[in-house]
Amino acid sequence: MDMRTSNAADAATAENDIIIEAWNTVLFDKFSRFKHLLVEGLSGHSDEALSRHPHPRGTRVLDVGCGFGDSTLRIAKSVGPEGRAVGVDCAHNFVDAATREAAQARVGNATFFVADVQWDDLGGPYDRAFARFGTMFFNMPGAAMRNIRKALVPGGEFTMIVWRRREDNPWLHAAELRVKEIVPVVSHEDTDQVHCGPGPFSMSGPDMVSDILRSAGFDRITFERFDTDICIGRDLDEAIQFAMALGPAGEIIRLAGEEGVRLTDQVMDALRETLGAYVRSNGVWAPSSTWFVSARNP
Ligand SMILES: C[S@@+](CC[C@H](N)C(=O)[O-])C[C@H]1O[C@@H](n2cnc3c(N)ncnc32)[C@H](O)[C@@H]1O
Repeated sequence: MDMRTSNAADAATAENDIIIEAWNTVLFDKFSRFKHLLVEGLSGHSDEALSRHPHPRGTRVLDVGCGFGDSTLRIAKSVGPEGRAVGVDCAHNFVDAATREAAQARVGNATFFVADVQWDDLGGPYDRAFARFGTMFFNMPGAAMRNIRKALVPGGEFTMIVWRRREDNPWLHAAELRVKEIVPVVSHEDTDQVHCGPGPFSMSGPDMVSDILRSAGFDRITFERFDTDICIGRDLDEAIQFAMALGPAGEIIRLAGEEGVRLTDQVMDALRETLGAYVRSNGVWAPSSTWFVSARNP
């Protein structure tokens, strides 16, 4: 390996360590705080994807970037005791939480392990792989897709749910636009704080994503659009807190450090106005839109 390649590899590894640290610490804490909204809201997308792409009984399924593992448990139930659902995540805190939930729910055919999906052995072979918003944060997505494909049997299908473009996802983007007007944006390169990686919209472009999948050796690549509203708060105060903690808006505020704290009141007033437009009698609901991306290991 020449010096340039070695420096690039070192930089990618250091960046990756930062991303994993973020998921294990600050993002795990924020996801835990808003778990009641996230699990419910994100399940709206996975329920539809799993009904369009059901896993037959007896299937062995890998759930990529499984987080709290609620989708893994759902898959475990659908494949029955003769099948297996295996959740993988780079953050041991998520894997520990998922393992505890599986034990509490007495789901015996769901297991979880810690691994970096880009580089580590994923076990297998699996008949199917699935990811609900677990693939947009890789700093080396091509390596991750290749690794997932290699863990599948020939003919095995991978289905991942990813956010479509920001403009069709006001549940995150409305707050992002407002916060950007107020808080200076600090890029990942200009901070030593941990961060989430490329971000929720990194796989919104079908041309780029299908190129990555083809280069990773997948074929029969399809994109299906799905739209549904997501509850971002049981009331407006909770929706403001949610926006200030999570998604691109939350990351802008956090990475701005002291300046983000100083501007809190101004941001809250602006979000109250913007998110107020989404208030209904049963909470705050905003539109969201995803791709169900499917691909086959030839
Ligand atoms: C937005 S969360 C989605 C979690 C879960 N699938 C859900 O829908 O609730 C993204 C997940 O991907 C995981 N992740 C990020 N980079 C990863 C990597 N390189 N290898 C494995 N997991 C990763 C994070 O730890 C996090 O749990």
